[in-house]
Amino acid sequence: MEKAAVLYTGKAKQMFATDDPDVLWVEYMDQATALNGKKKVQIAGKGALNRQISSLLFEELNAAGLPTHYLQTIDDHTMLVKKCAMIPLEAVIRNFASGSFERKFQVAHLRPLVPAVHEFFYKSDALDDPFINDEQAIALGFATRETLTAIHALSDRVNTYLLERFAQIGIDLVDFKLEFGRLADGTLVLADELSPDNMRLVDQESGNSLDKDVFRQDRGPLTPVYAQVLSRLQADAAASR
Ligand SMILES: Nc1ncnc2c1ncn2[C@@H]1O[C@H](COP(=O)(O)OP(=O)(O)OP(=O)(O)O)[C@@H](O)[C@H]1O
Ligand SMILES: [Mg+2]
Repeated sequence: MEKAAVLYTGKAKQMFATDDPDVLWVEYMDQATALNGKKKVQIAGKGALNRQISSLLFEELNAAGLPTHYLQTIDDHTMLVKKCAMIPLEAVIRNFASGSFERKFQVAHLRPLVPAVHEFFYKSDALDDPFINDEQAIALGFATRETLTAIHALSDRVNTYLLERFAQIGIDLVDFKLEFGRLADGTLVLADELSPDNMRLVDQESGNSLDKDVFRQDRGPLTPVYAQVLSRLQADAAASR
């Protein structure tokens, strides 16, 4: 399969059409952004690491029977995915307090949250991705009640899988962001990416961040940290085969 026209150039990925109208060609770029794009730099190797971590986790979720858009890997920074009509919401799942949640409620950093907290944000660069509740999303026509319920259930299943998967390699999955879409036949699937760009990961032993907070907070080079996450996931995947 070959790539055709560029459909979208985002902050982290470039999406291309292919000769199959149901398949997208996704290239993970060597670009890091924070503060909604206000901070932007090129980081060699980041795209390939995020592609590898995403491929590994999407493959595992598919194998576990969780529906994702992932089809196959093409090369270091490229994968094929099923084209979706995207739901314009970011679903954030929090297992431990951090970031905006910690600031909003003035609670202890990494306080455990039971049950896991689900939040939606409306995907809009112009509005800075504002928080949106269920009725706001329904009233504004972004999703139906049924879709929100299905997203909630699928998010919980993804969270259960990933929380356990990272715990096995000594990492706390603090929080993460998911995006969902619908295939042409209406099936709801997990889309976008699964990488440390969209997760907070904390090493259980050292307490160190193993995610984009390293970049957001200028705490040193990012690629060795992402490479460590990948190699820990790979080592564990190999050990359990
Ligand atoms: N399977 C899919 N089908 C169609 N679009 C997808 C699919 N998976 C992800 N996308 C969309 O493709 C884009 C990926 O690019 P990227 O993540 O770089 O965007 P971004 O800069 O984060 O901007 P934004 O996510 O706000 O559009 C996102 O808009 C994402 O919602
Ligand atoms: Mg994105």
